Amino acid sequence: MDKFVIRGGNPLVGTVRVSGAKNSALACMAAPILTADEVILENIPQVRDIETERRLLAAMGAEVELGYGRAQHRAKINCGPLTKPVAEYEIVKTMRASALVLGPLVARMGWARVSMPGGCAIGARPIDQHIKGLEKMGVTIAQEHGYLDARTDRLKGAHIVFDVITVTGTEDLLMAATLAEGETVMENCAREPEITDLVALLTAMGAKIEGAGTSTIRVRGVSKLHGAKHRINPDRIEAGTLMAAGAITRGDLIVSNCNPAHLGAPIAKLEEMGARVDRLGHDSVRVRADGALRAADVSTEEYPGFPTDMQGQFMALATQAEGVSLVKENIFENRFMHVQELVRMGANIKIDSNNSARVLGPAKLSAAAVMCSDLRASASLVLAALVADGESILDRVYHMDRGYERIEEKLRGVGAQIRRMGNIFAAREEAMISG
Ligand code: EPZ
Repeated sequence: MDKFVIRGGNPLVGTVRVSGAKNSALACMAAPILTADEVILENIPQVRDIETERRLLAAMGAEVELGYGRAQHRAKINCGPLTKPVAEYEIVKTMRASALVLGPLVARMGWARVSMPGGCAIGARPIDQHIKGLEKMGVTIAQEHGYLDARTDRLKGAHIVFDVITVTGTEDLLMAATLAEGETVMENCAREPEITDLVALLTAMGAKIEGAGTSTIRVRGVSKLHGAKHRINPDRIEAGTLMAAGAITRGDLIVSNCNPAHLGAPIAKLEEMGARVDRLGHDSVRVRADGALRAADVSTEEYPGFPTDMQGQFMALATQAEGVSLVKENIFENRFMHVQELVRMGANIKIDSNNSARVLGPAKLSAAAVMCSDLRASASLVLAALVADGESILDRVYHMDRGYERIEEKLRGVGAQIRRMGNIFAAREEAMISG
């Protein structure tokens, strides 16, 4: 099991390039299920979750080719040969986003057998909204032995109002609606850039969709969709994470190949904390933080509010800010797994309830052996280790590899002292540290 070894103290200086958006790519890799033609996706990030989705589609009979040559980062997906609309538990349990195939499979094949995703470290993660919406569209869904068995003779358009704002719920039903009979109106939709990115691909495939990026989306069903080529958005959460890394290390960091228009809330929060953020053209930002950082409150909300996927990263930053920062996590019920590890490094954080915490800074962080628990908690610990005194060892970095492409190379390229160790070396290193 790989580990990261990070020696803190270096300011990050230089230019670091953002990869394609994992969460956009996962939705856009499900869309080709809706057609028998080939779909080409560019700017795909080379991360574990993408490989997991490749395995998921291939197991159904689809042809999926991932190429990461310098100019590529490309997925070629052909679901023409797809014969087995089944998403097995063995794969789904490693990636909840597999639920995204449910709607497209039922729309294309008339039936699907998809494992219930189960919970994860950050919360129960139900998919009741996916199920409720599909049932309104004429799908019969039985739940047994941990699987959803979904069947329909013909999907029909429906008027759907989400009880909660759900990103993959919006994506799943949106994809199903493209092949439904008649019009589907969906209200209380998610407005994340990942939705807009998916709609751009579906439109290129021949879908008739209005309202992407707003809370009401209208879809006029068509009889079939065709192939297309689409470039995935830059990853706004990786960009925000790198910006926070530039600020916490008091560096001067240019984050390139990003979309500042998707980063409004994180940029505003960095500026509120005293960092200087300059937009460089339409695809880069420059972050500088040479003075003291000021405390600021963070309350996670659906887009365009402050993203829950950036909460841990800003909590690490808040440990270095002067004053008390209040952090409220409003989207998931258990997304403070990074707190105890940050406290072990010397942070002064008090959890008031299961979704609010107070961070008192600045705290001098000292290097420690810490454990990554989930994707974004890992990012929080990396940021803390970049300023901690000494050499930290981060265990279970496979969590980080799910959503950050070659992150240690990217950080090393702008001055961080970070290296990856396979388990053989890690054991020897740990023995040396523990003395
Ligand atoms: C997507 O997850 C992202 N994942 C998450 O990113 C992100 O944190 C989340 O949206 C919120 O922005 C992908 O896009 C693959 P939700 P998703 O459905 O769609 C409740 C990362 O780190 N809910 O928007 O699963 C749910 O419990 C990952 O990259 C229901 O109650 O999240 C949560 O409280 C983590 N019923 C809230 O809605 C449902 O049917 C928002 O969840 C669906 C969701």
